[in-house]
Order: sequence, then structure tokens, then C-alpha cells
Amino acid sequence: MEGAKKRVFSGIQPSGMLTLGNYLGALRNWVPMQDEFDCIFSVADLHAITIRQEPAAFRRQILETYAILLAVGISPEKSILFLQSHVSAHAEMAWLLDCYTQFGELSRMTQFKDKSARYSSNVNAGLFTYPSLMAGDILLYQAELVPVGADQKQHLELSRTVAERFNGLYGPVFTVPEPYIPKVGARVMSLQDPRKKMSKSDENHNAFVSLLDKPDDIIRKFKRAVTDSESEVKYADGKDGVNNLMGIYASVTGKTMDEIQREFEGEGYGVFKSAVGEAVVDLLRPIQQEFDRLIADKGYLEACWKTGAARAARLAGRTLAKAMKKIGFIR
Ligand code: TRP
Repeated sequence: MEGAKKRVFSGIQPSGMLTLGNYLGALRNWVPMQDEFDCIFSVADLHAITIRQEPAAFRRQILETYAILLAVGISPEKSILFLQSHVSAHAEMAWLLDCYTQFGELSRMTQFKDKSARYSSNVNAGLFTYPSLMAGDILLYQAELVPVGADQKQHLELSRTVAERFNGLYGPVFTVPEPYIPKVGARVMSLQDPRKKMSKSDENHNAFVSLLDKPDDIIRKFKRAVTDSESEVKYADGKDGVNNLMGIYASVTGKTMDEIQREFEGEGYGVFKSAVGEAVVDLLRPIQQEFDRLIADKGYLEACWKTGAARAARLAGRTLAKAMKKIGFIR
């Protein structure tokens, strides 16, 4: 890895199969970033147990998330791609950072407030201290840039605060990370409630398109997508459902909103929805084929994540050792 390139870190939780929203909004941008930056990507499995996971399903989700990252084009040669739990420095660093993060700061995290309301029967301490684990992910690798969506901005801001606090006490140990906002990136909304972000944990499966959905299911989900009582394919205020479908179609085909409006002039929503569905099926077909090939090759996946973990552990171990020494631990 060349020292001249900026270091990027990002993580993705294996809490269900990734969606079209994850792909168009994030993953697809990670692929070209691999040439410009020194990238480290992690399947954040430790993060996922803040919500109760069924062991067999959890194991499968971790495996599938790793494979889908490879299938979309994350290269295990260009980048470091690993499972977070394979590098024990993450859990260790999270504890250290917990002790440099204030209760009040964690209490202000909107995701904590949302999730503790949503999973009120399991408001565990991990859900509360989750931002320290995430800060550790980033700081262990001295990442300069972190591609994150709007929902993770507050956690990244807290990572910066904690890094600055630690550096203020002990001298420069951590690089203070910046958010990385890619030039192109679609914000894909729920197909059933276009005011909400598309989420893989939506109880309504018609609300999201999984990257592994079968073509028929994809077409059906788009046909059922919520729109409005008008019939004109036009990007406009108040037409959240149509705007979302147009955004998806634009993102997949590279067409502009004006071009799309002209393409479907006088057609009504039915034809438009089918076209969006077909475009998404075409987009996902090669990814699904590659996924099928990879998931059947456990030996290859294992080799990839072993190499990834070894490379990650070397970098993370250095930062962890430095931080512990500064605090005063006997090394
Ligand atoms: N918390 C992030 C999410 O839920 C995933 C994540 C874990 C992450 N560690 C990270 C993202 C480090 C960026 C950097 O989406």
C-alpha cells in the first residue's frame, strides 16, 4: 500500500441482506474509491449484536454480507476487507474509548434514542456505547476519510471529538477523521413510505429491494411502489414516491430527470414502474451471478477474510499499542 494515498475506513453491519439503497447510496461508490484511496472495509459484526441475533441466521448474514461486498467489486487485493470480530483490537479499543467518552455525549445520539424506543425490551449497554466501538474502528486505522450516510454523521462527529480529546491529553495518537461525501450518491427511500429511508430492517418486505431478490420479486415490488393519485412522471415537491423512483432510475441508468420525464411523457405510472424494475433487475443480475459463484466457494471466502484480518490486525495493533502506552499501561 502506498503511503501517499489517503486512508479510508468504512463499515457495514451484517444485519440482513443489503438493499438497493445500500448499493446505490454507498457500496457502489466504494468501488472506484479503491483506486484513489487506501481503503479498509469491515463487516461490522460486533456492532450487529446490539440487537438480538439468532445465531444461525447471524452466521449466514455475516457470510453473505462478506460475499456481497466482493460481488459488487470490493477487491481483496486493492483493499483490506475483513470481519470486525476477527481483529480483537476493535473490542479492546472500544473499551479504552468508552473511558474517554462522556455519558452525556452518548445520551445525545439520536440513533440511540430511536433504537432504544424501537427495541424497548433490550436497551443494552452496547446499544448505548456503540459509538465508541465505531470510533475505535475508524481511529485504529488512522483513517482520514470515512464515507458515511446522514444517519452516521453524528457518530462520526463524536469520533472526532473523542480523538481530539485523547490527542489533547496525550499528544497526537489518532488522526482526526473527516466525513467523505461522494460526488454521486443516491438517497433511496422506502418503496412503501417514500418519506423514510429504504431499510433492510423494515418489517414490510415490499418496502425494500434486497440485492439478492429474484427478478420477479423486484418487478413486483416496483409495481406496488407507493406513488400518488396523479399520473405524470415528473420530479416535483410532494411527489415523494415518484421522485424516489425517478432517483433510482436516474442512478441506475445515468439519465437526467428531464430525460426521464420526456421518456415517460403520457405513459402513466404503470409503464414507468415496470421500466424502473427492469433496470434494477439488469443492474443486479451480474452481481447476483457473482454472489452465487462466491457463496459456493467457502474456501476462497475464508482465504480472503483471513488475509484481510491479518493485514487489519497489523495496522490496528500498532495504534492500540500506542494508545495503551500513552495511557500508562505496562507494555
Ligand atoms: N455504524 C455503521 C452503520 O450502522 C456501520 C459502521 C461500523 C461504520 N463501524 C463503522 C461506518 C466505521 C463507518 C465507519 O451503518
